[in-house]
Amino acid sequence: MILNEDYIHEDLKTSIIGKNLILLDSVNSTNNYARALIQQGFSEGVVIADSQTKGRGRFGKNWYSPPEMGVWMSVILPSMKNDNSFVNMSYISTLSVVEALNDTAKLKTEIKWPNDVLIKQRKIAGILSEVVKLNNEKSFVVSGIGVNINYEYEKFPPELREIATSLSIVTGSKFPREMIIASILNILEKNYSAALEHGTDYIFTEWMKRCTTIGRRIRVVQSEKYFEGTAESIKPDGRLLIRNSRNDIIEITPSDIIKVIEYI
Ligand code: BTN
Repeated sequence: MILNEDYIHEDLKTSIIGKNLILLDSVNSTNNYARALIQQGFSEGVVIADSQTKGRGRFGKNWYSPPEMGVWMSVILPSMKNDNSFVNMSYISTLSVVEALNDTAKLKTEIKWPNDVLIKQRKIAGILSEVVKLNNEKSFVVSGIGVNINYEYEKFPPELREIATSLSIVTGSKFPREMIIASILNILEKNYSAALEHGTDYIFTEWMKRCTTIGRRIRVVQSEKYFEGTAESIKPDGRLLIRNSRNDIIEITPSDIIKVIEYI
């Protein structure tokens, strides 16, 4: 069953986000579509697709996005007035997904730096935020949100079966995707407005409460090399500080080219 726009509107309580709701049957990537809308003059909007043929994940990976299985959407918003807008929108989006899964399905998920949403060590959602700057200097953030909803175990491709999960696998129930979409957008607007009004400290604090990366032993795999260490702290600007066995601090940022970052 493809997505029903009326069902989304029934639960939507936003005043800005979601007024321009664009529902597509299939698209290469909702982030690409959102970028094109910004070029055409859109300054806010939400692009949602039932399936994506070239869904994009972080670090240049593919994001598997078949029909009926998940929420694949991109939220367009004007950049906040600081040069860390992309990191802040990632914090806001990830936190909003975590809160929405808790509100709708009573699911306690956790955040793995920089913006993976995990449950029982498996990934249930991911965020791909991108900045789009126009020639007139106006800047926007596209927050691409992917949440695995109605997958059964065998529906994942074999390489994802042991590392990914879905709402229906962990709860044993199917969920209307429209309800999850509305909940994410309602919470995202609340968090975005709070950040505009009071600054982003509150968002970062709430994000940190749900982030389980600090204190973990982690392995970071970059193009040809890798290193291991203990995650020591995360800074509001998105940097992760890792202490290695020689007691050196290694710093990585959300825009670094990383192949894999894993708990060990
Ligand atoms: C990641 O964890 O690697 C980020 C995944 C982001 C996937 C979403 S699905 C909707 C939007 N469109 C895309 O092509 N990617 C994001």
